Amino acid sequence: MKTPVIMDMDPGHDDVIALFLAAGHPDMDIRAVTTVSGNADIGKTTRNALVAADTAGLDKVPVAEGAGRPLVRMPEHAPSIHGESGLDGPALPVPAHMVEERHAVDVMEEVLLHSEEDITVIATGPLTNVALLCRKNPKAARRIRRLSIMGGGTFGNWTPAAEFNIYADAEAAEIVFASGIPITMCGLDVTHQALASESVVERIKEIPTMAAQFTYELLDHFQRAYEERFHLALPPVHDPCAVAVCLAPSLFTFESADVKVETAGKHTYGETVIDTTAGGPVQIAVDIDNDKFWGLIVQSLKNLP
Ligand code: RIB
Ligand code: CA
Repeated sequence: MKTPVIMDMDPGHDDVIALFLAAGHPDMDIRAVTTVSGNADIGKTTRNALVAADTAGLDKVPVAEGAGRPLVRMPEHAPSIHGESGLDGPALPVPAHMVEERHAVDVMEEVLLHSEEDITVIATGPLTNVALLCRKNPKAARRIRRLSIMGGGTFGNWTPAAEFNIYADAEAAEIVFASGIPITMCGLDVTHQALASESVVERIKEIPTMAAQFTYELLDHFQRAYEERFHLALPPVHDPCAVAVCLAPSLFTFESADVKVETAGKHTYGETVIDTTAGGPVQIAVDIDNDKFWGLIVQSLKNLP
């Protein structure tokens, strides 16, 4: 039984690998790709999503451009990690895939309202589009079977308190966490276990598909950026975790928690305040079988063009 999904993202090296994992897996049916400002400005994240869709052979999947800035604050980007293009490393051809005329939130709304079955939304960037959908059409938001996000955690990577996706639009994250949508959260506590080892990178380099070669070039840049910016020898590849928890939850350990988002703290803006003492509505991934996680990615890359 295929899982119908909408991929909302800010590509972004790890966003693209998340898209490839979903596109190459037989149990996932991508109904739409939507973009948001985050790792780079909206024009770049949308161009990058179109290039990724071309590379994955997603000719029939609509790609729609979303919010160009957060709900309240000014845009936050991450060129120190993803480069000026948002996808430094591989050559970025002019995409063949055309972007939708309609706004991403309108496309999300239409897909959700017209689908026979409820849809899983996988959000690997700031939550601006999902928050706008919640405000625009709560009925459509209620058709979200589960929202799987990469974001948050008990520590930060953009400030000491905040992870980038939440920090980039904490007001949006606050709306989404209070929406009642069932949420699975892959925060830094689990994504920092999803390390791209040298042996995995070499395995990917040997796969004779466009998607695998593109991924190899993405990981090469990503590894150097993480070493320079964070002094980490191996890069945590965050976003595919939000796909893998939908495809193979048995690879993860979860805790249930109540999650609040800090939007007023001078030094803690964007912090996810995670309370596991009495459980709660959010399913938080806390551990991952990293070998089997990369096995999923390798198999998907083999299945792609
Ligand atoms: O903090 C990591 C997250 O921020 C990832 O989704 C990465 O792509 C960036 O968006
Ligand atoms: Ca991302």
